[in-house]
Amino acid sequence: MNRIVVITGAASGIGQAAAQRLFDAQWTVVMLDVAFDARMTTRNERLYALHCDVADSASIDSAFAQITDRFGAPDALVCSAGVLRIGALADMQPADFDALYTVNTRGAWLCARAAIQSMRAQRSDAPRRIVFVGSISGIRPKVGNGAYGAQKAALHTLTGVLAAEVGGEGILVNAVAPGTVDTPMIQAMSDPTRTGRYRPSGTSPLGRVATPDDVAAVIEFYLGEQSNYVTGTVLPVDGGTRGAFIPASA
Ligand SMILES: NC(=O)c1ccc[n+]([C@@H]2O[C@H](COP(=O)([O-])OP(=O)(O)OC[C@H]3O[C@@H](n4cnc5c(N)ncnc54)[C@H](O)[C@@H]3O)[C@@H](O)[C@H]2O)c1
Repeated sequence: MNRIVVITGAASGIGQAAAQRLFDAQWTVVMLDVAFDARMTTRNERLYALHCDVADSASIDSAFAQITDRFGAPDALVCSAGVLRIGALADMQPADFDALYTVNTRGAWLCARAAIQSMRAQRSDAPRRIVFVGSISGIRPKVGNGAYGAQKAALHTLTGVLAAEVGGEGILVNAVAPGTVDTPMIQAMSDPTRTGRYRPSGTSPLGRVATPDDVAAVIEFYLGEQSNYVTGTVLPVDGGTRGAFIPASA
């Protein structure tokens, strides 16, 4: 069976790992990213790359029109495109606050909206799937990261409501909520010489930060038949970080 998945933010990190894992699982993968070219290019058998700026609704509409023309409606969408802006709420700049909401929350919603409209135009007996990449920050916020946590909490809320709204149409909507994942997003912000650098959301009981593939594996679960009766959920992928706070001296 030829299944089509569209992945945003697929040029890096979690989105890239999801693209690799789903490609290996025989999906046809359309990778979207602001870093890709405007023309759809073939990277490999069943692997395509296309420019999409999720902050721009016209760019999203154009990308989904190209995808639908070429492949028909996608079977699944993974929304991983995102940016990180940190800072205390009293001090951070409006442009940084806006970037978080425009890319991470509104961008994911617009992509889901475009995918659902394409899915509605072409019915399927098998469930369709949407997976948002939320964050543990949206469940257990931390100081210095309030705007990011708030917009991820908004994304988690959208997950539940959208799941209820489109469940009757056979579309499942879920979210993963990773703790710290070793990706370029975090590496860029973790330089100890940087003012206002990124700090992890606590110590993982598993003794390591997540790899991108730790998260991609759970995304694959949400795209498989094992999760046919799972929708509206937000699943922490945090190595138990949220389970209990581990004091520094422990
Ligand atoms: N890395 C972590 O610790 C962590 C933890 C929890 C949640 N997340 C979330 O995971 C998702 C992926 O993050 P990552 O760690 O893989 O980061 P990353 O920086 O490695 O990858 C993000 C990708 O999104 C793309 N992107 C950014 N703005 C875009 C736009 N406007 N349109 C299209 N693409 C755009 C980037 O070009 C990049 O390829 C994000 O939503 C992030 O908030 C990350």
